[in-house]
Amino acid sequence: MCGIIGFTGVIPAKDVIINGLEQLEYRGYDSAGVALLSDGDIILRKRTGKVAELKKLCEAEDMPATCGIGHTRWATHGGVTDTNAHPHRCGKVVLIHNGIIENYRELIVEYGLQDTIVSETDSEVVAALIDKFYEDDPYKAIKQVVKLLSGAFALCIMFQDIPGKIFAIRNVSPMVATSCEKGSVIASDLTALIAFSKEYFVVPEYHILTLSKDGIDVTDLKGKEVKPNILTVNWDITSAQKGGYPFFMLKEIYEQPDAIRNTVVPRISEGLPDFSEDGVDDAVFENCTNVMVVACGTAMHAGMVGKQLIERKLRIPVNVEIASEFRYKDPIIDEHTLTIVLSQSGETIDTLEALKLAKSKGSKVLSIVNVKGSTIARESDYVLYTHAGPEIAVASTKAYTVQVSAMYLITCKLGLVKNILSKKEAKEFITKLMNTPNVIEETLKNANNIKRIANHIKLAPDAFYIGRGLDYVMSLEAALKLKEISYVHAEAYAAGELKHGTIALITENVPVIALATQEDVYAKVISNIREVKARGAYVVLISMDEEVHDDKICDKHIRIPKLDAEFTAFATAVILQLIAYYTSEAKGLDVDKPRNLAKSVTVE
Ligand code: AGP
Repeated sequence: MCGIIGFTGVIPAKDVIINGLEQLEYRGYDSAGVALLSDGDIILRKRTGKVAELKKLCEAEDMPATCGIGHTRWATHGGVTDTNAHPHRCGKVVLIHNGIIENYRELIVEYGLQDTIVSETDSEVVAALIDKFYEDDPYKAIKQVVKLLSGAFALCIMFQDIPGKIFAIRNVSPMVATSCEKGSVIASDLTALIAFSKEYFVVPEYHILTLSKDGIDVTDLKGKEVKPNILTVNWDITSAQKGGYPFFMLKEIYEQPDAIRNTVVPRISEGLPDFSEDGVDDAVFENCTNVMVVACGTAMHAGMVGKQLIERKLRIPVNVEIASEFRYKDPIIDEHTLTIVLSQSGETIDTLEALKLAKSKGSKVLSIVNVKGSTIARESDYVLYTHAGPEIAVASTKAYTVQVSAMYLITCKLGLVKNILSKKEAKEFITKLMNTPNVIEETLKNANNIKRIANHIKLAPDAFYIGRGLDYVMSLEAALKLKEISYVHAEAYAAGELKHGTIALITENVPVIALATQEDVYAKVISNIREVKARGAYVVLISMDEEVHDDKICDKHIRIPKLDAEFTAFATAVILQLIAYYTSEAKGLDVDKPRNLAKSVTVE
């Protein structure tokens, strides 16, 4: 996905846009560009590379224009080139786009744009169409074109002969907007808006916004004026800054204790889970006989932790599905299924479409989302917002642990409502959940010990994470973290399954990180460790053992605090995040912005 921003006001737009793009860069950073509208002329600067490159390109120029748009791109259609960078200009029209226009090729043919289009992008086709339909009425041109588009879009549009104004319209792809004494701002998300105001609104779909220095008009496609619903940001600008940490990811790892406290504590009354403030009534849990969990990536891994807990504790069946698979498998769910959707951004398109499919089959959808007012939150029957604050690093950390904590709350509530857990059992469980921030703080004290492991892993072409039960689920998240930010190929394997083939890959010095926190299978994992150790693996053991004296078991031991088996996830998660973080840092990589990735995948 991409980051878009528009500003029109009483101060120069260039710096506002560049600063906004720096805040939005985690959304995509293949290329960046800015277009400024001044005195009937459009100044357009764009290039491949990060926003810093664009900043260099613009800093020498005097650009007094007070109206402009900017874009930071994660390439979907067309390679990473200057030509494919946004903004795109056609005739009098210049625009930026986040999303995917699925029928752009057909539109090129249908409207004879072959000789007009110079890039490989779908976005330029939109600019060409608006220019083609534009005579003197921007609303008419915009309406005519969006009716032709199939797919997701968030568009900011300027017309060369309409000074000081930015027009915007969206379908699915996110946009938020605000205005203040300096002018009007629109952007992909709040990180670029909060410098202007804590009040904002989510741009309603298929409504045309007209931004001017005096404010923002919102009209539906019939031209009827609409008053948007004003929301207030529940975090401050420092939350979206590094605060002295070298990378956002490390800051966000250390923010986890407070993130969990902020998510859990407001939902506890008299020692029991209470979702009344969230508008989630007990009936949601009373009526379900089975649970479906749908998400992507790390969010899915958090759902898998929830599956482990719900099935072991409550004996209620839980399926976990990858959203992009769920959408096309005609899932077996109905009105007795509670579908739990997890998403940090609340904008992941596969997860959103999976949510809609679940609802169409009669299932109630409860979503666990970190971004207030996001599309997934708005489309769900019920929402449990996590309160991790903005997560800027592409690699999800605090959003993951707060998603897990939300799954723990749901498990406890489900058990209570179904009379599977007594109030006493539930209170004991909640007491342990309320202690998990302290567990994480205790584990973080071991960071330097963990850092030393990275030096061994960073040189390895492959690494393996193994475990059983909850530890296997944690291994899946560990492998993803290591891959996505250090580019070391990592694989998670059920410890008992390794000998059925994959152990063939275990040779001298291959790093194997073995999780053995589950007492009921501890001895089994230790014997699996001996199997890989016997083949020369470099083994890091993560367990609750006070000491490990047998060097035939591991080369390095990371100890976690003594915990009930079902709560070890909160300690192992931090260790696995730090292993990935320190490995990436040791390799001199941009930990926050790994290659090819973007923070939220709003394309399919
Ligand atoms: C996590 O480290 C990844 N960046 C990615 O797997 C992410 O969790 C996934 O894209 C889902 O995003 P969401 O939570 O915003 O829906």
